[in-house]
Amino acid sequence: MSELIVDGLPQASEVKPLDTFDSIGLRRSIRWYEPNKPVERWKVQAMLEASRIAPSAGNFNGQRAIVVYRDEDPEIWEFISDWSQITTQMAPILIFWCYDLSAYDVQGQQLHDLMRTGALDKAHGWEYERVNRLFPLPAILPDFILHRLACIDLGNSIQNSILTATSLGLGCCLNGASGGARRNVKDKFNLPPSYVFCWLMTVGYPSENLDGGGTRGRPPFETMFFKGKVGQPFKRDAATVELLKELKMIQEPGPTPGRLEEINKLTKRFGLGDDALTDWKLGPSQLNDPVNAVDTKPEPLSPEEVAASAAGAPESDFTLVPTVKREVLDKYRADKGIGDTD
Ligand SMILES: Cc1cc2nc3c(=O)[nH]c(=O)nc-3n(C[C@H](O)[C@H](O)[C@H](O)COP(=O)(O)O)c2cc1C
Repeated sequence: MSELIVDGLPQASEVKPLDTFDSIGLRRSIRWYEPNKPVERWKVQAMLEASRIAPSAGNFNGQRAIVVYRDEDPEIWEFISDWSQITTQMAPILIFWCYDLSAYDVQGQQLHDLMRTGALDKAHGWEYERVNRLFPLPAILPDFILHRLACIDLGNSIQNSILTATSLGLGCCLNGASGGARRNVKDKFNLPPSYVFCWLMTVGYPSENLDGGGTRGRPPFETMFFKGKVGQPFKRDAATVELLKELKMIQEPGPTPGRLEEINKLTKRFGLGDDALTDWKLGPSQLNDPVNAVDTKPEPLSPEEVAASAAGAPESDFTLVPTVKREVLDKYRADKGIGDTD
């Protein structure tokens, strides 16, 4: 029995989810979790329910997920890429997101179902026989198109689940998987050949602030969005920005004051050692000049400044395998007989 998941249901009136704008604005990739704080099972189900009802091309619904409670599989972080192993060791819940290409084998049936239920109508040109001709069973679309559809569908459905998590006070982060992790996950979860594993998502209550120290850098609005044609920006209206700030869709850019202290205290708390303390000055994003790709190396902090930033950190209350140290990870893998290709 996992101790990281709790049963029980609140009354609807007791649940105060953030509204959509606030959830979009507050969502951050969370990389520090409360490792022992259980997550309510209903919240995990709510995330999956949100994924299930996300839009998908032709209503093909290829998204799939495998939920793992960390304490039922404590070594599962070994399957994950190096840079994500610390996060994976800390997060109580892990969701392995995949898509199933076989969901696209029944395209005609799915479209007919949309017609049956009144989503697609004759006025828009939908007819049973025409759909039969264009989408016969088995599916005729080439695989590269199916992969493209499936990736977009999966992304939509993951984002629905992330926003649900944020609105319920949970943090999430998607994590990539290296080739080795990818192969292992296939065997471990008995994935059928039609399944493609894409991302591991960590889920749990953040031990960092839910705002992750402020919004992360983004290129300027007008370099991303256009009116009529590329090069003709969709003008960013300053009053609209102010409105969206009030409605909390647009929130404070990072790093917010105290962010360095926050991450260094967490580093100490989780016993990662002084070597792992962040020893550079934090500053604003430089993505505001995407053309010239500004990328200055952050200024180093003195050892005294680094020590001061972690002063007063709480005692370590959870032991991580400090895989940020390459030699520790290499030894761990050698001791366990994990090979380079695993
Ligand atoms: C598909 C995808 C894969 C990602 N993989 C990783 C990852 O492997 N490790 C990690 O720390 N963050 C990962 N991230 C998080 C991104 O770094 C993050 O979304 C981006 O820096 C913007 O920051 P924000 O999500 O906090 O706004 C991933 C995000 C996405 C959408």
